Amino acid sequence: MRILVTGGAGFIGSAVIRNLLNSSQQIKTNDCVQVIALDSLTRTGSWAALAELDSHPWLRFVTADIRDAAALQLACRNIDAVVHCAAETSVDASFNRSPDFADTNVAGTESVLSAALAAGAQTFLHFSTDEVYGERLEGSSTEDHPFAPTNPYSLSKAAAEGIIVSAANQNAQVRFVVVRPSNNYGPWQFPDNLIPKFVTLLAQGTQVPLYGDGEHRRCWMHVDDTADAVRLLLHNPSAQGAYNLAGEEMSNRMVVDELLRQTGMDWSYVDHVTGRATHDRRYCNDESKIMRLGYVRRRVFVEEIGQVVEHYRRRAQSQETLLMC
Ligand SMILES: NC(=O)c1ccc[n+]([C@@H]2O[C@H](COP(=O)([O-])OP(=O)(O)OC[C@H]3O[C@@H](n4cnc5c(N)ncnc54)[C@H](O)[C@@H]3O)[C@@H](O)[C@H]2O)c1
Repeated sequence: MRILVTGGAGFIGSAVIRNLLNSSQQIKTNDCVQVIALDSLTRTGSWAALAELDSHPWLRFVTADIRDAAALQLACRNIDAVVHCAAETSVDASFNRSPDFADTNVAGTESVLSAALAAGAQTFLHFSTDEVYGERLEGSSTEDHPFAPTNPYSLSKAAAEGIIVSAANQNAQVRFVVVRPSNNYGPWQFPDNLIPKFVTLLAQGTQVPLYGDGEHRRCWMHVDDTADAVRLLLHNPSAQGAYNLAGEEMSNRMVVDELLRQTGMDWSYVDHVTGRATHDRRYCNDESKIMRLGYVRRRVFVEEIGQVVEHYRRRAQSQETLLMC
């Protein structure tokens, strides 16, 4: 199976690639995959996330923009499947740069889709988000819950899904899968997100900014669980349509409390700052649909977070060393 992964130098894209190429199941079943990792290396992407696979014989790196039709046409030659992760992803940044978000997340999706269909891809797996459902104060959203995005990022992700639905209606022979994950944690996330940012600041002995009362609730899942779900959906021919991915529900205060414990700091290192005007209190996905395909979320936050903290602490230290040189 030859798979194009867009956004392959990003947090989730790189985890998906590591999972596809390292999977023991792949070796057992001889279900070999070749991966083309495509990324334009924006602020949040870096090939360092795939350094361990640098010389892997089944991995090819392409530095290109998803809106570059000629580059995509070349990258898509003989592909069987696309995993489309590339996106502008920062909610905070989306308030000031909404045209960029529409351009990359909507026009970019259209561009990847056209190239994939022209190349004869049989499967198109698109990354969406739980944020398309908007705030969910109680209960959990199933895949048929109406969309109510509240910021330019989630709005652009909801619009991108519209493009996928319309393509699915016109191309019955292609398998379209959409995943809507909740908040991911793990290594190689760009440090403008809560966990890498706070660990990096705490490692430098700097205060961390906690929005509002810190009672905003998210479901947290390990990025390797997301990658497991992608592998399952790619290899299961009956998987089609949208699939939620959920996680362990925690308030930001609970996450920060654990980060302080892990880094040996206390609440005096937390600066309570005014949050942004639109900040959804809670998201919560129901993931029973993907569980019916045999998916099991295996990682537990309190068991994994130590390794994740260590990853960012080491990176913070090596960056400090670089700055001192
Ligand atoms: N991280 C999460 O918690 C989370 C949760 C739900 C959904 N998602 C979705 O998962 C996908 C991956 O998110 P992530 O957390 O890995 O984000 P990320 O920002 O780490 O990775 C995105 C990657 O896309 C690349 N990219 C951006 N614009 C591009 C362009 N025009 N051409 C080519 N490459 C481009 C970036 O360089 C980066 O490597 C996104 O679609 C995001 O909306 C993420």
